[in-house]
Amino acid sequence: MATNKLLLLPGDGIGPEIMAEVKKVIAWFNARGTNFEFEEGLVGGAAYDAHGTAISEEDMAKAQAADAIIFGAVGGPKWDSVPYDCRPEAGLLRLRKDLGLFANLRPAICYPALADASSLKKELIEGLDILIVRELTGGVYFGEPKEITDLENGQKRAVDTQVYDTYEIERIAEVAFDLARTRDNKVCSMEKRNVMVSGLLWNEVVSATHAAKFSDVTLEHMLADAGGMQLVRRPKQFDVIVTDNLFGDMLSDVAAMLTGSLGMLPSASLGAPDAETGKRKAMYEPVHGSAPDIAGTGAANPIAMIASFAMALRYSFQMIAEADLLEKAVSNALDKGMRTKDIAKEGEATVSTEQMGEAILAELEALAA
Ligand code: IPM
Ligand code: MG
Repeated sequence: MATNKLLLLPGDGIGPEIMAEVKKVIAWFNARGTNFEFEEGLVGGAAYDAHGTAISEEDMAKAQAADAIIFGAVGGPKWDSVPYDCRPEAGLLRLRKDLGLFANLRPAICYPALADASSLKKELIEGLDILIVRELTGGVYFGEPKEITDLENGQKRAVDTQVYDTYEIERIAEVAFDLARTRDNKVCSMEKRNVMVSGLLWNEVVSATHAAKFSDVTLEHMLADAGGMQLVRRPKQFDVIVTDNLFGDMLSDVAAMLTGSLGMLPSASLGAPDAETGKRKAMYEPVHGSAPDIAGTGAANPIAMIASFAMALRYSFQMIAEADLLEKAVSNALDKGMRTKDIAKEGEATVSTEQMGEAILAELEALAA
């Protein structure tokens, strides 16, 4: 049987702790017939400390060669004053850009057991199942110029550039429409066409793509600010949301909180299918960050990280039954009352990162028995 090559990049803060739980999950599946091999690399502050750069060329080469990358989190106050180009986030952005991972899938699902953990009323989020499709390699994150110039009059000027070409909008819209067809067949596109010409083009291209190839899907457009408002007002109106890099960053944090905690949201970042093999480059990472404030305390929630591995099973390896099993194990552990601190109600007993990982493994065992 062919081996599936994973590159694990734990990163900084809680990254290594939550990655340790994923390794146990990988071992569990391997003991039952899957054939994952993994290597590890450094990214973010960890890479900076070791190599003076946010990711080494050697680890970039490993990333290019992997079937999938499993990524923890990067960043922390320790690296606040490193040169901008070497900041921990630069490692993550380089991976996204160099591997062409333009499609970022961020599902926000409300687990029944956590309906009470949301800051919104239970009836608003019970049964919530949204998929945010965020454009990940364009827009203001990468547009040039991106600089601070000294105006030599005591003032400085900072410029970031928001830029989108037709093909970039088209391909992300296609991903969103395709995925909508496997769900409730509804896409809401969000931009700011009322103030940004990039929003104007975004709107135009999404509409044209819809008309040309996807007229069976229901399409709606919303200004991104109104979209943010609707997300907290009536989140269940959405099925798939497609939006640019920056709005997608913000809106997915909002959507994450609807589900109770940022610690619950996984993501998949996919490239275009390879012309020969049909395989997509892919990276899987939790939506949350490195949480340096709780790093090392055993309080981190490993669920977003483990659910990111479930997305890898589903999207990179077509192991649908395995992905379903892992997601069910997570859901069962929650049903049994397992709560890390971030998802516990006041006074509720909490478990550690490791205990949550063990509980999920126990549920896997029970399901497989
Ligand atoms: C995310 C993160 C990243 C982003 C940071 C860490 C660069 O917030 O993946 O949502 O802004 O894209
Ligand atoms: Mg973010």
